[in-house]
Amino acid sequence: MGMGEPRASIEETTSPEALRDACERARRAGAGVAFVPTMGALHEGHLALVRAGRARVGPGGLVVASIFVNPTQFGPTEDLARYPRDLAGDAAKLEAAGCDLLFAPSASAMYTEGDSTRVRVDGLTAHLCGPFRPGHFEGVATVVTKLFALVGACAAIFGKKDYQQLAVLRRVARDLFLPVEVLGHGIVREPSGLAMSSRNAYLSDAERLRALALSRGLRAAAAAFTAGERDAAALAGLVRAEVEPAADSVDYVSAADPDTLAPLEGLVGARARALLAIACRVGATRLLDNFVLGEDTPGDLEPASASRGERRAS
Ligand code: PAJ
Repeated sequence: MGMGEPRASIEETTSPEALRDACERARRAGAGVAFVPTMGALHEGHLALVRAGRARVGPGGLVVASIFVNPTQFGPTEDLARYPRDLAGDAAKLEAAGCDLLFAPSASAMYTEGDSTRVRVDGLTAHLCGPFRPGHFEGVATVVTKLFALVGACAAIFGKKDYQQLAVLRRVARDLFLPVEVLGHGIVREPSGLAMSSRNAYLSDAERLRALALSRGLRAAAAAFTAGERDAAALAGLVRAEVEPAADSVDYVSAADPDTLAPLEGLVGARARALLAIACRVGATRLLDNFVLGEDTPGDLEPASASRGERRAS
């Protein structure tokens, strides 16, 4: 791999040591490292993170993506076994998006014989998805900490679609003094408004139509907020009015503090922000979406071009 010059084609490794060495070599040569962890089945949302990583480190930097369907973050009744997998297709997409190095380890490489260390984040995980997915964020925090330990000093880019995950991982990096700058990237949407997700592949055509209720509900609340509505319950109620009739079950439609994720009651203050977050099932597929009133703009609920999302990486 050349030093400080754009790399033409993607390299792939399954070896944790090779990943660590490549990142160390890049830093020693003065290059920045950008890191995008994924579980594969890549779509434009993932690729926007890769492009934002490239924008962050420049043409001479090292952009790393990982693909690992992490068993510890799936519950016993969840979709680990049938999670969509397409490593060859993913590698081609990553290469086209300008990724330099793909790390795609086996489960036994990430969780070696006798592995018994777990990373648990309290507080933030008591809210939203936490109660519905026991052990999920511990699995996420653990695997991402392992990945951060291998990659070392870097900018790591995560999507705001998984808003709580982003909050949890920011906290991990801060609490454990990891040399990682955790960056959030705006939600990338289909032209229909549906937030992109690997799990959208599970939706039938009819379910895909019903799934539009999530972004429609958020648009209704964003419009009401713009028009002056400040009552948190009323704003969440506007989202619920769209989501409840369309979903097969609703885990939550919540107004929450965007920093603590705790439920928000009463009025959203003059300069305050409010997270509106949805988790529901359409058919058997669990879908998420969210919008931060007072921070995101209604345009964020329209199909986002990757370039707009990039500028909004924060
Ligand atoms: P995965 O679901 O593959 O998502 C990988 C990254 O892509 C996450 O940061 C996620 O928020 C982001 N992403 C997904 N859909 C997006 C969209 N429509 N717009 C913007 N970003 C989007 O999240 C995971 O994997 C795992 O939990 C992981 C962090 C890799 C740990 O196993």
